Amino acid sequence: MDSFTLALAEKLPKAELHMHLEGSLEPELMFLLARRNNVSLPYENEEALRQAYQFNNLQEFLDIYYNGMSVLLTEQDFYDLTWAYLERSHHDNVIHTEVFFDPQAHLARGVALESQINGIYRALTHAQENLGMSFRLIMSFLRHLSEESAFETQELALPHLDRIDGVGLDSSELGHPPEKFVRVFKKCHELGLLVTAHAGEEGPPEYVWQAINQLNVHRIDHGNRALEDADLTTLLVEKELTLTVCPLSNKRLRVVDDMKKHPLPEMMAKGLKVTLNSDDPAYFGGYMNANFHAIIKNLGLSPAQVVQLVKNSFTGSWLNDDEKAQALAQVESVWASHDP
Ligand code: ADE
Ligand code: ZN
Repeated sequence: MDSFTLALAEKLPKAELHMHLEGSLEPELMFLLARRNNVSLPYENEEALRQAYQFNNLQEFLDIYYNGMSVLLTEQDFYDLTWAYLERSHHDNVIHTEVFFDPQAHLARGVALESQINGIYRALTHAQENLGMSFRLIMSFLRHLSEESAFETQELALPHLDRIDGVGLDSSELGHPPEKFVRVFKKCHELGLLVTAHAGEEGPPEYVWQAINQLNVHRIDHGNRALEDADLTTLLVEKELTLTVCPLSNKRLRVVDDMKKHPLPEMMAKGLKVTLNSDDPAYFGGYMNANFHAIIKNLGLSPAQVVQLVKNSFTGSWLNDDEKAQALAQVESVWASHDP
């Protein structure tokens, strides 16, 4: 039965809604860019770097993640990074992707926002034209930095809003609650941007409440810890807010200690609108299909549950209604023709 479900999950057209482009920087490309840009890395080679990918919490990962992205300096680097992710996710039958990037981390190294967006966008449009993939681009604010820094970044983004669909909030969650960015997000809404925020990954349910009530998010990234609060769970179900869950990330960052105990089945049973995503695939052991494999193997999800997750990925996406309907019809057609 597992093999039937695994094959179905691989084959189904999927949307990915939670993926940090900088988190898709594989060690091979990192070293190639380091050589190209004369940046020195504190690891002898790709293997030594991979050995360092042992994290006890989110912060330990973030320290390595910010260090790794220091090789990204030119427009071409951002193109190469984005294109590599798109090729891999196309291989996993991801037909729509909504990707994050962390502009403040690159601005701090003197990389202009325009270079970042030009490179990323060129790869995204190339994938649209050549691989038939659709996309949305999400500019994420780093929550460990100040409100002032977020406002400065927002100001810099104004000339590029035709290429930015929404904003997110990521980085060190504990001690940096959503309420810190209420005024920034209010302005984002006024600018017509869609809004999401990481909440309830390591942070308490209170941060999820704040993301909903104070940032007025259109969805929640992670949200695992919402389950600790019955009223919050009820609200999420009632509002049909999408949660972008990332199983391999949760395991590697010790949000869960055993994949067999991942809360995904409980979340689905409670009626939460959950999707599966890879978060930082180069660091956490795999892309979209690897996440499906992990949950099918460890949690014994049924084919119908897999189809539900995939449908949620499209209905929870920022595609328009016609695009959603088309994608859902494709899902139905693959599901209907999948032979045992
Ligand atoms: N930035 C990249 N990945 C992240 C994660 N899982 N949580 C918070 N910030 C991130
Ligand atoms: Zn994330």
